[in-house]
Amino acid sequence: MIVAVIGAGKIGEAVANSLAKSGQVTKVIMTKRNVSTISRSRWGKVAVTSDNRDAAKKADLILVAVKAGDAKHVLAEISQFTAGKIVISLMGAITIERLERMLPKAKVVRTMPNIAAIIGESITAYSPGTKVTAEDAAKAEFILGCFGDYVKVPESLLNPITALSGSGPAYIAVVIEAMVSAGLKVGIPRDISLKLVTKTLTGTANLLSEKKMHPAELRDAVTTPAGTTIAGIYELERGSLRTSMMNAVEAATAAAEKVAKKFESEG
Ligand SMILES: NC(=O)c1ccc[n+]([C@@H]2O[C@H](COP(=O)([O-])OP(=O)(O)OC[C@H]3O[C@@H](n4cnc5c(N)ncnc54)[C@H](OP(=O)(O)O)[C@@H]3O)[C@@H](O)[C@H]2O)c1
Repeated sequence: MIVAVIGAGKIGEAVANSLAKSGQVTKVIMTKRNVSTISRSRWGKVAVTSDNRDAAKKADLILVAVKAGDAKHVLAEISQFTAGKIVISLMGAITIERLERMLPKAKVVRTMPNIAAIIGESITAYSPGTKVTAEDAAKAEFILGCFGDYVKVPESLLNPITALSGSGPAYIAVVIEAMVSAGLKVGIPRDISLKLVTKTLTGTANLLSEKKMHPAELRDAVTTPAGTTIAGIYELERGSLRTSMMNAVEAATAAAEKVAKKFESEG
């Protein structure tokens, strides 16, 4: 299968490199306006061009990962080469209805990945468009599986998901920074603190996931009466960590919806 990735920026390049590792993908053609800024792929199957039409024409399946502001131009360029092909949008803000209007002959899938795609660890939410069959959805899931895990959701959740797991790596980076600072405050050197915090984060996430454990169960299991952990949790609750996180995701959802409305109103 030949796959085109239109818009090889942060997400597009990450996805292209992950796809190139798959035995079922024979070639990945990624596009960007300025091809000189691309880092050399370690995977011989990846070609780079600024010719979106040619990439779309040659591809069996197309992913689009440009910014919403560039989408109209790019979708108009590739539209005639998308007949009967699965087109997976990795772009925030652009609805299935809009994608289907701009690519009337394509089978559109709208998704929201995250930047962990760089290491094949994205969690990608997706919603199939109206023309997508069960077989097409399975093909799309195979593609999403090349750069992480995936979950099918109703389209109405994709703006909130943009705010939760699309922007999520940035929130977690802030949390990690905060914990590293906390380590410094109690005398732990920065490099040791960073190693401790990142491994604590991945270890905890993997534990919850592998044991299918609820976070509250884990918290209770490690919190002894009048112990160290409850002293820390007390301060986290006093600082309204949960409220701050809820406010952050709510504000980011409102921002995602604003971008979507702006895109729609621009016609
Ligand atoms: N970054 C994230 O964490 C993330 C997460 C989830 C979803 N997304 C979505 O992914 C999309 C891209 O985001 P990004 O962060 O990867 O942006 P980015 O790094 O700015 O990448 C966008 C890419 O699109 C290329 N491009 C723009 N116009 C083009 C055209 N006419 N033909 C070919 N290529 C063109 C740009 O090429 P040049 O470099 O040559 O200008 C650039 O490489 C957005 O819609 C965003 O909502 C991003």
